Amino acid sequence: MKSSGCIDQILVSSQYTLKEVFRLLDKTGDSVLLLVDNNGILQRTVTDGDIRRLLLAGFDLNDTLTQLPEKNPITVEAGISDSDALTVMNKYEVSQLPAIDGNGRPVALYLRSDIQPRILLSIPHMGELEKKYVEDAFQSNWIAPQGPNVDGFEQEIAEYVKTGHAAAVSSGTAAIHLALRLLNVGVGDTVFCSSFTFVASASPILYQGAQPVFIDSEPDTWNMSPQALERAFQASIATGQKPKAVIVVHLYGQSAKISEIMTICDCYNVPVIEDAAESLGGLYKGRHTGTFGKFGIFSFNGNKIITTSGGGMLISEDRASIERARYLATQARMSEPHYEHTELGYNYRMSNVLAGIGRGQLAVLDERVSARRKIFAHYKQSLSDIDCLEWMPEPAGDYSNRWLTAVRLNHEKTDIRPSDIIAKLSYFNIEARHLWKPMHLQPLFSGAPYFYHSDVDFCKCLFETGFCLPSGSSMREDEIGFVVRKIKDIIGSW
Ligand SMILES: Cc1ncc(COP(=O)(O)O)c(C=O)c1O
Repeated sequence: MKSSGCIDQILVSSQYTLKEVFRLLDKTGDSVLLLVDNNGILQRTVTDGDIRRLLLAGFDLNDTLTQLPEKNPITVEAGISDSDALTVMNKYEVSQLPAIDGNGRPVALYLRSDIQPRILLSIPHMGELEKKYVEDAFQSNWIAPQGPNVDGFEQEIAEYVKTGHAAAVSSGTAAIHLALRLLNVGVGDTVFCSSFTFVASASPILYQGAQPVFIDSEPDTWNMSPQALERAFQASIATGQKPKAVIVVHLYGQSAKISEIMTICDCYNVPVIEDAAESLGGLYKGRHTGTFGKFGIFSFNGNKIITTSGGGMLISEDRASIERARYLATQARMSEPHYEHTELGYNYRMSNVLAGIGRGQLAVLDERVSARRKIFAHYKQSLSDIDCLEWMPEPAGDYSNRWLTAVRLNHEKTDIRPSDIIAKLSYFNIEARHLWKPMHLQPLFSGAPYFYHSDVDFCKCLFETGFCLPSGSSMREDEIGFVVRKIKDIIGSW
């Protein structure tokens, strides 16, 4: 809350020009100014949106605030509690609330950003068992990158996704790196990879000194296009440079067209690594994502559907590969009484304490998936009357975990951009994010070959038109409702 002393800095009179108002908004860094009359009595609030509307109506920067229409300000008496102020803000859907004295002079300003915890994109959501497993680790003094929780977590994940074997590691990125290493990817090799993803899908290709080749997405799943993949294979055969591996990503919890992708890769005899970092609990035709390729990986980063604060899992039907992954992840230490190393290894094992958190989280994974699916359905249903919104698809037979609710703007129906919506939601203390910026557009990978789905660069379109909404499984109904109302307001008033 801004109080008496500071309030003077945001007072303006009707003689201020629009330019001066912009300058003051910029200088104070506040999102609002208070317009007072000659007696210091509050007339209304002034935001940059008010000034923009005047400019759009044909006024110029040298016009004064006398042009502003009258608007009775929502105010409260000085001294009310923050929670009462928030109740008033929610009732009137405002984010700044001036408090006035008995004469109508502003004495304080309540800001939503100071009072209401930010509604974040995806926050950790603990269950009831995590502490018990962590406590067990403390009791037994297994505070190490091995121990009963690590073994238990590996076994439980393998059982949950119905695969043979799992190795718990320090991150999803480490799991991808190990998979590439196990496939002997090295300097001079190429690896095909989904372009529409987070950088961690592709950076391990560079760790190994190999070259990425990026593959576009297709409209049914927003994930790797089998057509583009086939074309990339044909081009690679023509140049005699067959890829050593294909990394296919299941983004935002939605499976790629994995059967078609597996058929193509099997035909060329190239192994698949499924980056299921975001899709744990998601199914493709009843089978868990991550279990189709030679290797699958999951992430337990803090923002994922379940978390160990940081961690990952490498899975495979191939016992020998998973055992070798555990060995490589433990500095490739040989089984000798002394420290013996014949090859390069990594410090990638998951700690027994964090694996305890993972075991507790796994117990509530199905609940987390259904909560996120409900959040997606809630947004989609409540915003169904806004026809410029196109929701991330879920083809029949698939079961996305809806890790993040992802949506695009149809630019034939609106010219509002994702950045406008993200900025305006942020003003109401709501976090939204752009969809992933594709890897072939990242300076890090400039020059890497890229194969389009069709004649348009589909994942570039996704990036330019899409955004993600807060989707944490602990979100309350009133929070989802608040986000929905704000989106309606923002698009409605555009
Ligand atoms: C698609 C994708 N791949 C890989 C990763 C890497 O996982 P981590 O952060 O556990 O290294 C993430 C998430 O961070 C991701 O979203």
